[in-house]
Amino acid sequence: MRKRVTKAIFPVAGLGARFLPATKAIPKEILPLVDRPLIQYAVDEAQAAGIKELIFVTAGSNSVLEDYFDNDPELVNALRKKGSADLLADLRQTDMESGIVAFVRQRELWGLGHAVACAQQLIANESFAVLLPDDVIDADKPCLKQMIEAWTETGGNMVGVMDVPRDQIPALGVLDIKEDMNRLVSVRGLVKKTDAADEPSCTAVIGRYILTPSVMGSLVIGTPSVGAETQLHDAINAAAVQENNVYGYRFEGNHYDCSSKAGYLEAIVAFALKRPEFRDRFGAYLEATVKHGGGMS
Ligand code: UTP
Repeated sequence: MRKRVTKAIFPVAGLGARFLPATKAIPKEILPLVDRPLIQYAVDEAQAAGIKELIFVTAGSNSVLEDYFDNDPELVNALRKKGSADLLADLRQTDMESGIVAFVRQRELWGLGHAVACAQQLIANESFAVLLPDDVIDADKPCLKQMIEAWTETGGNMVGVMDVPRDQIPALGVLDIKEDMNRLVSVRGLVKKTDAADEPSCTAVIGRYILTPSVMGSLVIGTPSVGAETQLHDAINAAAVQENNVYGYRFEGNHYDCSSKAGYLEAIVAFALKRPEFRDRFGAYLEATVKHGGGMS
């Protein structure tokens, strides 16, 4: 029987410069969609896919993420006294049992590949998932669960992908496709976005990965030799060439690119409209605003 994927890495050490000045004091992954931070959506997705251990790669002096996933007895007592059962239930999702979460520091921001490599000691010799929390995916079956189900058939390395218009190719780049099997795609390599717009496909990589110990092993944790960032995709491309075991998986669901302000705003609107308590009032407000260019009076 093929091994399961039980560990996930959440690289959240980046500067989040596109959301400055807010991210001077609040890590990007704590920015909320309505009332739940981006990281909560990613953690829920991972746990729904069977992930048991959550590894956060962090940087800087901010301990907001540690506090968010910690037990807060004072707050719990205050809510108990107020009889706020709903809020207490919401809070329980954030209170992680000891041993489930680990925090690893990325001392220098040497890129996504380096951030993943910082968790090397905690991954040992097993396949693992990587989730970038600013890619938010709203799906009936969580994206990572869809991927793990496909991966149990293929093994190897798998990246979450979606077809996009050519002018919307994201920073993570696209697939160079070897064989297209509908949802599943066998991959020659991952190709960066170029200024020339001559990428080999419009099947874009988004921040969901299932990776082998061999990819982890080829990531360098020391100083990058050319002063460049350590690229996760270079390590995946090496696996595609040497081991011929890289796949893309076209997930089912709606994707929101919350690394950009426009994508973040779209996600807020979408998640607000999904909530029964806001749908009517907020929906009417949006409609009026679009029609008349102003709020409701
Ligand atoms: P981004 O490229 O979106 O960078 O990183 P960023 O810092 O989050 O945002 P901007 O570009 O400054 O606005 C993609 C993911 O990789 C993590 C980020 O935290 C984000 O989740 N990352 C990036 C690291 O953990 N370490 C790095 O050195 C670089």
